[in-house]
Amino acid sequence: TRVLVLNGPNLGRLGSREPDVYGSQDLSALRVLLAEEAGDGVEIDLRQTDDEAELVHWLYEAVDSRIPVILNPAAFTHYSYALRDAAALVTKAGVPLVEVHISNPHAREAFRHNSVISGVASGVIAGFGFESYVLALAAVRRAG
Ligand code: DQA
Repeated sequence: TRVLVLNGPNLGRLGSREPDVYGSQDLSALRVLLAEEAGDGVEIDLRQTDDEAELVHWLYEAVDSRIPVILNPAAFTHYSYALRDAAALVTKAGVPLVEVHISNPHAREAFRHNSVISGVASGVIAGFGFESYVLALAAVRRAG
């Protein structure tokens, strides 16, 4: 089985971007960590884009191929209704979608306190650094 791990804008800069908030490890380190956690029989397909349309299309792929999704929508979390509507297609099709955040957005600026994605996600895990993704992987496995 395959799990899509989709990352939104500016997460390609992990490692050098605000390390006090996001840590000093980059996406390739996350890919290695998740591959280790996944073990045999689970393929981690980790992707990143700064492009809203590309994320929307990846969610269509999840719907059409019924692939569970771990989604860090990054700043799109807070304002992308297009991404929300695409995420709703996934969960309404009965495919799990877990929203993750590295930081705890609720402990940060007010504009980060609202997620337009959470209402259509299967669940949300935030605030545990890269461990948020590991916990999300456990959650999608149970859901699957
Ligand atoms: C983030 C939190 C968002 O508010 C922010 O825009 C990000 C990353 C996180 O993983 O903590 O880019 O999604």
